[in-house]
Amino acid sequence: MNRSTILKASLFHAEIAVWLLALAMTITGDLWWAAASALVALGAHTAGRLWSRQSPVPMPYFMRWVLLVPRGPQSPARMQRLLQPRSGERILEIGPGVGIHALAIATALQPDGVLDVLDVQQEMLDDLMRRAARSGLTNIVPRQGDAQRLPYPDATFDAAYLISVLGEIPDAPSALRELRRVLKPAARLLIGEVLIDPDFVSLPVLRAMARDAGFLYERRSGPRIAYGVVFRPMAV
Ligand SMILES: C[S@@+](CC[C@H](N)C(=O)[O-])C[C@H]1O[C@@H](n2cnc3c(N)ncnc32)[C@H](O)[C@@H]1O
Repeated sequence: MNRSTILKASLFHAEIAVWLLALAMTITGDLWWAAASALVALGAHTAGRLWSRQSPVPMPYFMRWVLLVPRGPQSPARMQRLLQPRSGERILEIGPGVGIHALAIATALQPDGVLDVLDVQQEMLDDLMRRAARSGLTNIVPRQGDAQRLPYPDATFDAAYLISVLGEIPDAPSALRELRRVLKPAARLLIGEVLIDPDFVSLPVLRAMARDAGFLYERRSGPRIAYGVVFRPMAV
């Protein structure tokens, strides 16, 4: 594990611990201590965000418990409604983690659709495939790789999606250009982001990056602090 990953994980866990302390102080009526703890937690959050922006790294596997927390606006059901996967399609998920969204999308693609999942960490893919096997899913194809150089031919996929991933990719514009290359001309691209993630990409920044990579904005669901956005490739 490199220095950036250790620092990112330490700041994140420190923040959670101090928020819990602030909560305990509030419950016991120590409001000054609660306010002081909340300020320290906010400081840790800001430091984590600045560090993530300067030095983006993948969320380490030992932090996977975070992915199991219920998502609200980014629940698998909502992302599925936005993406509208259909049997017979081939869809790509970048950065699936342990598969919170992948299992729902692969289920919706049955009986004839395929979900390709690409993650830079093999441990995440192994975990995802164990969950898929437990759910009886056989239409997920895992591949370890980097979103900045996609190992797929041009115009391969009917759709692609990334949830809380873009901000972890050092060169996000090149990942978007790669997605443009591997998507078919009428494909959909869904990108989801949530503000509490230290790697959050704001909607205006995403829209500018996507436009430069050759995508047209189509629609959004959820608030600006926890959004899912669908783009289409621009005609060439
Ligand atoms: C915060 S997790 C999100 C996981 C999942 N999308 C979810 O919402 O539950 C980010 C995932 O993206 C992967 N990732 C980060 N950078 C990547 C890259 N350059 N190429 C492929 N995957 C990457 C990480 O390994 C991790 O599994």
